[in-house]
Amino acid sequence: MSQSRTCYLLICLLLSCAVNQAGAADPPAVEAKNGMVVAAEPLAAEAGVEMLRRGGNAIDAAVATGFCLAVTYPVAGNLGGGGFLVATLPTDAGAQTIALDFRETAPAAAHARLYIDAVAAGKTNASTLGHLAAGVPGSVAGLLYALEKWGTLERRTVLEPAIRLAREGFLLPRRTHQFLASASIASAMSQFSATRAVFYPNGSAPAEGSVFKQPDLAETLTRIANDGRAGFYQGKTAELLEKEMKRGGGIMTRADLANYRPIERKPIEFSFRDYRIVSMPPPSSGGVCLQQMLGMLSTFPLEEFGHNSSASIHVIAESMRRSFADRNRFLGDPDFHELPLTRLTSPSHIQAQSKTIKPNAASSSKEVLSGASAREKEQTTHYSVVDRNGGAVSVTTTLNGAFGSKAVVAGAGFLLNNEMDDFATEPGKPNLYGLVQGEVNAVGPGRRPLSSMTPTIVLDSGGRVRHVLGTPGGPTIITNVLQVLLNLVVYRLAPQAAVNAPKFHHQCLPDRLDLEPGLPKDVWSALERRGHNLKERSAIGDFQLISREPTTGTLYGASDPRGGGAARGH
Ligand code: DON
Repeated sequence: MSQSRTCYLLICLLLSCAVNQAGAADPPAVEAKNGMVVAAEPLAAEAGVEMLRRGGNAIDAAVATGFCLAVTYPVAGNLGGGGFLVATLPTDAGAQTIALDFRETAPAAAHARLYIDAVAAGKTNASTLGHLAAGVPGSVAGLLYALEKWGTLERRTVLEPAIRLAREGFLLPRRTHQFLASASIASAMSQFSATRAVFYPNGSAPAEGSVFKQPDLAETLTRIANDGRAGFYQGKTAELLEKEMKRGGGIMTRADLANYRPIERKPIEFSFRDYRIVSMPPPSSGGVCLQQMLGMLSTFPLEEFGHNSSASIHVIAESMRRSFADRNRFLGDPDFHELPLTRLTSPSHIQAQSKTIKPNAASSSKEVLSGASAREKEQTTHYSVVDRNGGAVSVTTTLNGAFGSKAVVAGAGFLLNNEMDDFATEPGKPNLYGLVQGEVNAVGPGRRPLSSMTPTIVLDSGGRVRHVLGTPGGPTIITNVLQVLLNLVVYRLAPQAAVNAPKFHHQCLPDRLDLEPGLPKDVWSALERRGHNLKERSAIGDFQLISREPTTGTLYGASDPRGGGAARGH
């Protein structure tokens, strides 16, 4: 079994232990009046709420939480990765909707045969492990762009909690200890001396509950606090990164860093029932798939079918199958390809897809596929924020795999991503997640790899925030956001119940319906009778949800029991 596959299984196991420990009853969501932050790690959620208490808005809080996660949640929080931010900010003219793309880009020296050649030269893990796997990081540029354009607090104020936690340390949580101590992660991470120095200072993972300090990371964060984007993309940090690349055989240069830009994009927006859905456009596939799946499902009586009944799971899974067929074939970086977005999201196309769903029989993916498919992997993180003025921010950010490429930049203290593996590194070849992507997502200089990250906000007909949604989980991100949205809007589940409910996933190829434990046996048999190829799959995602009750304005924060996160309100 490959190292990445072993890491993936280990993460699933840790997550499923968390679910089992959570017990059967859904605890109530956390309640607050003035603001809420829900994140995968409690100190980071607290840092966001601190900004809200100081009078900051949802953007200030999101940026503080984002920088904090880079310190307190190293498995996925990051300076060396990328992500997407979707926001709705109140203005006199109604809600302003925002989609900010700070996805990593391929270095200028990257080309379509990069990983084909690397594999031929015997470097079989080149797109997942080590320096060649890293795209040009976007997180710092993205967070600072958001803060400067839409935030209200000083950069130093917003970065203060992250710097403090890196310098003074924090008590290492059990989950991070378990990740670091697992044999597969430890052996992959230990190949890099700078990574050993940070995460295995005495030869093994720091003990659970020990004070974990990251002085080099504190210095990098301080340079960012002092000099803004130049503190990361130029000067000492850029120098350290270039040196690290040379040492590790990577291709990223200082020019790549200096050239990195986040991009404001037009969000994917559409109506579903009485709601307005705002989500991420390409290079994420999330918003397009969400629009397609909800569109297909509009023609079915989902309430009548019942929540997580075999009839509803069947049609929802069929909508997933059809949408992933389009995703994998037609989506990639919109700045390098003319993507057929108008056609893919047109009512006529969505209706035509919907009509092919048979009420009592599974389709075959071969039949549905008019072409190819995609790829990715585990560990990413999501955080949701709502402020007292109704501003809302939904951010999903990632290093891609757990601890990304596993390579820390010596002297700068942060991990590099392995996002290059989200490209179709060899078109036609299924990757770790069985997704097979096409030419449109091939590696090319400056390109952004196709993503499944789906930060999403649901507004009511008056433009007020109702829900802020998101999760990690590779391709299951899209299908998990769909299910929590349906659980809230169609099935009217309470926020925590909507998050906790068992999930399922279909991604067209492999032609298989994955089900989390917890669904009744007769649902399994009824799905099998329809011809679905079923597989039990442990914990899907680590959802971070905020719901706003429309009449009282009370906020409810629901962090997923599958992870170790928390909702913090004020
Ligand atoms: O952008 C993507 O779609 C992937 N790099 C996300 C990976 C992920 O969600 C891993 N999470 N558990």
